[in-house]
Amino acid sequence: MTDCTDLDIEAQRALIKAYAPYSRLRVGAAVRTRSGAIYRGCNVECASYTLGGCAERAAIAAAVQAEGPQVEIVAVAIHALNSRDEAQIIPPCGGCRQMIMELGPKARVRFLGEGGTPVDLSIAELLPHAFALVQH
Ligand code: THU
Repeated sequence: MTDCTDLDIEAQRALIKAYAPYSRLRVGAAVRTRSGAIYRGCNVECASYTLGGCAERAAIAAAVQAEGPQVEIVAVAIHALNSRDEAQIIPPCGGCRQMIMELGPKARVRFLGEGGTPVDLSIAELLPHAFALVQH
């Protein structure tokens, strides 16, 4: 990314720790909370494939563990490298968008888009008509 932010750098650091022997796609995410703190996460895969987890959700879990249930995610950055150490286009998956929306409804999300261009969108742009649980 040409206009690299501190959050991008943290996401790039996070992916170094990824455990991705099956997909060989190492993903790192960094989230900034309202407090200003940054938390990192990487993808963790499993031989029983469906048990694996995304980097974004690992980073969000780290933020919740550190700050508790009132935590608010204000920004997310995501980076990924393939097995040849090439940067990959990595929009967050639908499940991660849902999770970001839940804990950061006003969050900005940065990732590498088509043509290697950085994309910076609000989570509302990435997940219109988001599901929310309404008490009946
Ligand atoms: N992955 C993420 O970490 N975040 C996403 O938003 C999409 C996919 C991971 C999960 C899996 O380990 C690998 O990328 C390939 O799907």
